[in-house]
Amino acid sequence: MGNNSFTRRQFIHIGSGALAATTVAGTILRPHLLSAAARPVAPSDTVRFASIGTGIRGCELLEASTHVPGVECVAVCDLYDSRHAAGQEAVKSNVPASGDYRTILDRKDVDAVIIAVMDHQHRHIFEDACAAGKDVYCEKPMSHTVEDGFAMIAAAHKANRIIQIGSQRVSSVLYAKAKEIYDSGKLGEVTAIEAYWDRNSPSGAWVYPIPPNASEKTIDWNAFLGSGPKRPFDPVLFFRWRCFRDYGEGLAGDLFVHLISGINYISGTNVVAQRAQSSGGLFHFKAGREFPDLIETIYDYPNFRVSLRCNLNNDGGEFIGFYGTKGTMIIKDSTLTYKPQDTRPEPEGYSIFGWPRELREQYLKQWHEEHPRTAALAAKVDEEGESYAAPPGYSDTVDHEANFFNAVRTRKVVTENEIFGNNAAIGCHLSNFAYFNKCIAVWDPAAMKIVKG
Ligand SMILES: NC(=O)c1ccc[n+]([C@@H]2O[C@H](COP(=O)([O-])OP(=O)(O)OC[C@H]3O[C@@H](n4cnc5c(N)ncnc54)[C@H](O)[C@@H]3O)[C@@H](O)[C@H]2O)c1
Repeated sequence: MGNNSFTRRQFIHIGSGALAATTVAGTILRPHLLSAAARPVAPSDTVRFASIGTGIRGCELLEASTHVPGVECVAVCDLYDSRHAAGQEAVKSNVPASGDYRTILDRKDVDAVIIAVMDHQHRHIFEDACAAGKDVYCEKPMSHTVEDGFAMIAAAHKANRIIQIGSQRVSSVLYAKAKEIYDSGKLGEVTAIEAYWDRNSPSGAWVYPIPPNASEKTIDWNAFLGSGPKRPFDPVLFFRWRCFRDYGEGLAGDLFVHLISGINYISGTNVVAQRAQSSGGLFHFKAGREFPDLIETIYDYPNFRVSLRCNLNNDGGEFIGFYGTKGTMIIKDSTLTYKPQDTRPEPEGYSIFGWPRELREQYLKQWHEEHPRTAALAAKVDEEGESYAAPPGYSDTVDHEANFFNAVRTRKVVTENEIFGNNAAIGCHLSNFAYFNKCIAVWDPAAMKIVKG
């Protein structure tokens, strides 16, 4: 077995999906990174970037950037002083750090910025960055509100910038293989897609620890509040912002956006679902949040229905299933399986139990005369299907960043651009609209609004 193959035992170890257990052998996929920088990058082609927001994700992105060829971080910026050092440590460079992102936008030697700030801050930094002529990698979900998303698209188009939104699975080798299978038609007509992302820990529910030095001396509280409601200093709001509607979008904005982006990418969909219905509740993490800890949403898309769930009270991991008339494709954590169905014509076997023998035999004789077994029909369907896994230690974040920085160089539009990112983010807003208003959320494309159904 070659280097890029894995045995059944290894596959089950990599990901314990239901279909994985039936798989005999599979292929370990290769990272995309080299294709993102097809040639060695000349020093004159080095992309110089800065990170605005060096919290959890900002630091992850800075660390990932050290694995991308031809890029150089030249500054970091954050409202919380201690995150200046965190950003410098992540990028392994003592780059200048500040609390005011305009100092970065004013620099002529900065080609691009990463925006990794709380969701309610995305829009104004994004608009200012575009107006300053910077290309933008903006974290997901692109928008905090529907209105924000369309304003961001207008800003990007006015300034003609390269934009990439940060649902990194869109650049994953596993998702590229899934798209190849989907596009091949092997699944037949896909009418149902379901996905979940379940986790069961305080960290998974964003109950993050508050650093001991958090205070108004170390955090620019007014800048964090931005144009939102004025409130006295509260470190819980700052560090656990995802729990609160003024700053985040709960599970929909945090996790549904990845599932929707993945489903849209694989199925070649770049529209907003027509309508959504949500259910859920706050069952376990009851204190200190406005969002439910379980949410389920069913979306109507033109060609299929999508059912999503996030549950913070069970450790089920990440799953997307595509159910077609000819086969089933499952992504479970870092593995992918495709299982064909035997769709060869068969005589009716069930309902003729209610027929007398003579009629049964007459029917079967006629059926076999009308359906001769050709060689093609006699061939056995490969019931093992196909299995793939991302390589050990694979980072789709590195591939996603590589795609962005390569686009900054080539000026070629990326897949997860502002339109794609906005459509995925509206999917999150539909989910929350339906949940909080206890109604069907309908997308009105002409009015560019969500309305009650
Ligand atoms: N793609 C992913 O897998 C992924 C994972 C985690 C988070 N995210 C996204 O990344 C973003 C940041 O999330 P996080 O977990 O890092 O949050 P975080 O709270 O850890 O960090 C956000 C940082 O942004 C800074 N900030 C806010 N407004 C600012 C401003 N005006 N100027 C400078 N700095 C500012 C804050 O001071 C804070 O340190 C969010 O949009 C989140 O949804 C994406």
